[in-house]
Amino acid sequence: MYKIAVIPGDGTGPEVTKEAVKVLKAAADKFNFKIETTEFDFGGERYKRTGETLPDSAVEDLRRFDAILLGAIGHPDVAPGILEKGILLKARFELDQYINLRPVKLFPGVDCPLKDKGPDDIDYVVVRENTGDLYTGTGGISMKGTPNEMAVQSAVYNRFQVDRCLKYAFEYARKHGKKARDRGDKNTLALSGKTNVLTYVYDLWERAFHEMGKADYPEIEREYYHVDATCMWMVKNPEWFDIIVTGNMFGDIITDLGAITQGGMGIAAGGNINPEGVSMFEPIGGSAPKYTGKGVINPLAAICAMQMMLETLGEETAAAAVEKAVMFATANKLKSMQAGKMGYSTSQVGDLIAEKVAQ
Ligand code: IPM
Ligand code: MN
Repeated sequence: MYKIAVIPGDGTGPEVTKEAVKVLKAAADKFNFKIETTEFDFGGERYKRTGETLPDSAVEDLRRFDAILLGAIGHPDVAPGILEKGILLKARFELDQYINLRPVKLFPGVDCPLKDKGPDDIDYVVVRENTGDLYTGTGGISMKGTPNEMAVQSAVYNRFQVDRCLKYAFEYARKHGKKARDRGDKNTLALSGKTNVLTYVYDLWERAFHEMGKADYPEIEREYYHVDATCMWMVKNPEWFDIIVTGNMFGDIITDLGAITQGGMGIAAGGNINPEGVSMFEPIGGSAPKYTGKGVINPLAAICAMQMMLETLGEETAAAAVEKAVMFATANKLKSMQAGKMGYSTSQVGDLIAEKVAQ
């Protein structure tokens, strides 16, 4: 029995989450495990009503679940940053979800903006560190409102954070790299950094990367790319990549680029993972206010997030079946990944996947 906390959130979040839960229930029936879902109403509407984002007591509640499924956070009536920091980042930090795992995988039948690239070329995973860097909020503004005002925001990493992220990434490469997946003759972990300019933070990352690789994972091929070059190769030669590990800020940026190469926000999913605690799974796209309530948003990203949740919970057969069902739908059913252009409504897409999983 898995206890799942569901936070549908804002905008189209509830619509896509409903479909993810629909497929989760189908998978549970088919593969003989039990789930119990508990819904939480954190998001913009609750904030407008009560002034509350994610209260500390809620964080304690969330710790008691096996996993969290999140729809989307972000409301047009609420100033940017309040809900993002108060809910999403607070959950990531307080639950110490120190990995943000973001597969970049082009499914069959999905339109790719890269010329001559197909599912064989775009199939890699970004391991984004999820607790440090510019996201710690270290910094401040002084002399605000004067001509001399000054703002500082610091990229912060300590060795502990870097090491635990690298360890996860090496282990992940060992289990899921291209060799492990029968897609190549070696497993490769690439560090994406900026050692030519960020000579403190990425010096730490690079030293830690090679030290750990040499000592504990000698069979895993190590590569290094500057982050700007990483972007270039993600477009020009995405087939070069296997597993990429990087800091929080670069990881945020390159995974949006990755998402668009795999068909866009309608399909891109991620997991905020605490390997020793409670993890939270979410579609990478936002709350899409302009599509809210229309039944046209693509739920596949949320379904894929739920699929990652099943994998993390150890329900690997069910996870594989969900992925297969999504691939079946992208290859044979959906006309497009874009909202309103799928050829199906949001709930019809959920039905399609749920039916396929149940077969
Ligand atoms: C993401 C988002 C968040 C981030 C925002 C909404 C705080 O862009 O999950 O990638 O920057 O991490
Ligand atoms: Mn982002």
